[in-house]
Amino acid sequence: MNNLLKLTITAAALMFSLTAFAQQSEEERVEALLQQMTLQEKIGQLNQLSVGGFDPNAAGMMRAGMVGSILNECNPKVLNRYQKAAVEESRLGIPLIISRDVIHGFKTMFPIPLGLAATFDPELVEQGARVAAVEATASGIRWTFSPMLDIARDPRWGRIAEGSGEDTYLDAQMGVAMVKGYQGESIDNTSMAACVKHFVAYGAAEGGRDYNSTGVSERTLRNVYLPPFEACVKAGAMTLMTSFNDNDGIPSTGNGFLVNDVLRGEWGFDGFVVSDWASIYEMVNHGFAEDNKRAGELAFNAGVDMDMMSYSYISHMEELINEGKVSMETLDNAVRNILRIKVRLGLFENPYIDESKVESTFYSAEALEAARKSAVESAVLLTNNGVLPLNKSKVKTVLVTGPMADAPHDQLGTWTFDGDPAHTVTPLKAIRDLYGKDVKVIYEPGLTFTREFNENGIAKAVKAAKKADVILAFMGEEAIMSGEAHCLTDITLKGDQRKMIEALHATGKPVVVNIMAGRPLELDFEIAHSDAILYSFHPGTMGGPAITQLIFGDETPSGKTPITFPKNVGQIPIYYNHNMTGRPYNGTETMLYDIPLRAGQTSLGNTSYWLDTTFEPEFPFGYGLTYTTFEYSEPSIEMTEYGAGDVIHACVTLKNTGKSEATEVVQLYVRDMVGSVTRPVKELKGFQRVTVAPGESVTVRFELPVQDLAFYGIDMVKKVEPGKFRLWIAGDSASGKPVEFEVK
Ligand code: BGC
Repeated sequence: MNNLLKLTITAAALMFSLTAFAQQSEEERVEALLQQMTLQEKIGQLNQLSVGGFDPNAAGMMRAGMVGSILNECNPKVLNRYQKAAVEESRLGIPLIISRDVIHGFKTMFPIPLGLAATFDPELVEQGARVAAVEATASGIRWTFSPMLDIARDPRWGRIAEGSGEDTYLDAQMGVAMVKGYQGESIDNTSMAACVKHFVAYGAAEGGRDYNSTGVSERTLRNVYLPPFEACVKAGAMTLMTSFNDNDGIPSTGNGFLVNDVLRGEWGFDGFVVSDWASIYEMVNHGFAEDNKRAGELAFNAGVDMDMMSYSYISHMEELINEGKVSMETLDNAVRNILRIKVRLGLFENPYIDESKVESTFYSAEALEAARKSAVESAVLLTNNGVLPLNKSKVKTVLVTGPMADAPHDQLGTWTFDGDPAHTVTPLKAIRDLYGKDVKVIYEPGLTFTREFNENGIAKAVKAAKKADVILAFMGEEAIMSGEAHCLTDITLKGDQRKMIEALHATGKPVVVNIMAGRPLELDFEIAHSDAILYSFHPGTMGGPAITQLIFGDETPSGKTPITFPKNVGQIPIYYNHNMTGRPYNGTETMLYDIPLRAGQTSLGNTSYWLDTTFEPEFPFGYGLTYTTFEYSEPSIEMTEYGAGDVIHACVTLKNTGKSEATEVVQLYVRDMVGSVTRPVKELKGFQRVTVAPGESVTVRFELPVQDLAFYGIDMVKKVEPGKFRLWIAGDSASGKPVEFEVK
């Protein structure tokens, strides 16, 4: 047989088997493969490898079927070469699943997830995740390690930037939106598998110090930390990542209760579970396993299918099987979980990337517009004495100053591997481009980076301020100050930024402080020394136009705080949905400096508060101003008694009492007055973005199924407990008057 004929026959056979393979169901395909696999090939699927550039040794491992997934490489040419080693040069041709941390955009960077949460706009967040998937899959990335669902109540923790803040309901909404956006409505070449992480309670790290232990009870896990994961699993999230922390003494990567029992048993998850980076090995550091082999045994038997960079499974699994410490059945199930997702994603049919189309998918006009819109909706107007929006006919000259005015890298925020700062539109550029015709722009940065101490720089900015009608000060945190392992004990603006704000304010010119940061910061000082504060969590590529258009009134603020802003670090953890204490603060307490000297044993009220700071935070959860004012009627519900199967129809009249059209995030909260265990003082159960013209009123309606009031009570069973409830509909978590109802 000549070579050409041989090739034609082989190609035809391949086509035939692929077609036959494609006609089988997902499970049949998985089984068919599994039957052909050797022990080593099965173990190979469990192994995830980090690669940088083309490494012939790594490619050799792929040919030998020793790698199931890779991370950290995103050069399409290199990825195609690796994929070829797996698909065409290995015995069974099982494709790699190629992964990367695409956290808030791939090339076009969106606001960091905490900023996305501030939009309270799941549809827009889904659209952003779709943009990220289209850009990343064009480069060959078919699996992202996002969304991060860690509830975080401690702004010292650097990774607060990566999640949706403190609230379970908001977190679930945002997580589901991202899962849908990444994976797409139906699976095609632009579908990127989501990975919900970090399972679980990682955000509760003691002291806000990354990787630290957590001590969250099963009930709080079930009521607060787990529901966003469950919601995303129900929405079809294909993979899940365990966390680094030990909770109540058990490292999550070795916690079979969480993975085997809750995730798979209770929720029916059929995707695969990956460890966090070296988190299997780190169980040795935790003192939970004596060596990497034992760590692998614990993780695998707990349900962790894939090993990210501990080399534990690839080095020790064969021995563990031979010694009977891991069963063949457990191994087969893990391999099934991984193959199932590879089949589901269509990797067998389309393992390669079209290298000629990669570049043209980046930074499209639609992507940039979605990023701009997201940055607009994510900015929160915290204070405003009327200086904003700037009046273009009155303001002739603006001073643009501050270390974040022109910081193309830093405004992108943490986890920006691929977003190119050359594409970033900074506030300085945007003001010049969009408003340079209307106003004279003076630029004098004062400080060149946020941690800088520079009195000369400040003096120059102050001098320049004298020539301006308004000062636009862009302050905040460099990207490096939040994110993984980037925690702080002091959450005030760093370097000389406060000094600079004080000096600018002393000029008597109006000062608008624009903050771009990775966390909520302490703002007492800034509030006292400015005329308005517009707060953005690092806003991404299009942050400049978004913030500038808000400043000049071509856009209207609508973002709300997705997390409580503490007055000072000593209040942490402070979050709106805390349980009621037996001695609640009642507002009549005596503060430290009001206590008379030598007061002796004066009773100070004996309630739950601090002597030296207010009970209230600086800004509550759900808070944000806009350029108009809204008036809420008292909420109404159609009945006062409901059964467990009913739906509560609640509504409120929202009136725009100001002079401009604006969008309000209308929020519905409830409180279960008496439970078999103590319940939060309020819990968010719904929200809607509603746009109202000036002078107009609209009726905003919510449907709240009584089943949404269910929780895990004393018997650890999820159910609605009969009794009295309160319901609020308001513009933030601290306002509004409630109505009462009863569940019979
Ligand atoms: C992080 C994960 C991330 C992984 C891969 C780890 O250090 O905790 O969130 O997905 O690295 O980059």
